[in-house]
Amino acid sequence: MKKLIVANWKSYVGSEADALSLAEGYSGIVMPQGVEAVACPPSVYIETVKGKLGRVKLGAQNVSLEDEGAHTGAVTVHMLLDAGAQYVIIGHSERRAEHETNEEVGKKAKHALAAGLDVVLCVGEPEAIRKQGIEAALAFVTTELAESAPSAEHMARSKGQLAIAYEPVWAISKDGVGRTDTAENAAAMATVIKAFLAQQLPDHAPLVLYGGSLNSGNAAQFLAKPEIGGALVGHASMNAEEFQKIIDAAGSK
Ligand code: PGA
Repeated sequence: MKKLIVANWKSYVGSEADALSLAEGYSGIVMPQGVEAVACPPSVYIETVKGKLGRVKLGAQNVSLEDEGAHTGAVTVHMLLDAGAQYVIIGHSERRAEHETNEEVGKKAKHALAAGLDVVLCVGEPEAIRKQGIEAALAFVTTELAESAPSAEHMARSKGQLAIAYEPVWAISKDGVGRTDTAENAAAMATVIKAFLAQQLPDHAPLVLYGGSLNSGNAAQFLAKPEIGGALVGHASMNAEEFQKIIDAAGSK
């Protein structure tokens, strides 16, 4: 079964020199059978690393809802495609923290899919919800999906592929310091997400990735679960050797 491993470079890469040196490490990455890996640099460095990532594909961390026109600061889907991105992360909790709503996330996802970008749509509950128990977390994530996942009609008209990243907000690391969910809980959540999508998108079977403090030491536990179709990796993707080990863990499953 295919596994998708997505590197979210966030703003850890702060200069062109940083982006080029990380890309150089990525260019030597060996890709096991059945694994696809994507690097998502800050958008101004997409063209910098284009063609320099070896077997690793290229994506972006966010996209605007707007199309060409009077939208100061907007990076549109067409700009991303032009720059060479194939994937885009949408609805990351660090964007949602800037007041991005489910409705906006859903509109962005549909817009990007229609234009031909492959979308990694992020969902996940904050700590206060998780403290109420796993049922509350499941309900929270199901609502996020209900309010943002594309319809079957929309997917039928779309050129891009959809994947969902389940990232419990409280598990996402700050500069590499964080705590993962358990692989069992993540797999239970992936099962519920898959069941929701099987109803809404019967002709598609989007992969469900896990994200949140994943690294080479714990990746195998998560990736061994058949329900978990890959990983969204933040801080641990800053080191090409570490990222290779996570890819290898996906390959041996
Ligand atoms: P992390 O980030 O791996 O550093 O926890 C994951 C993410 O936010 O996508």
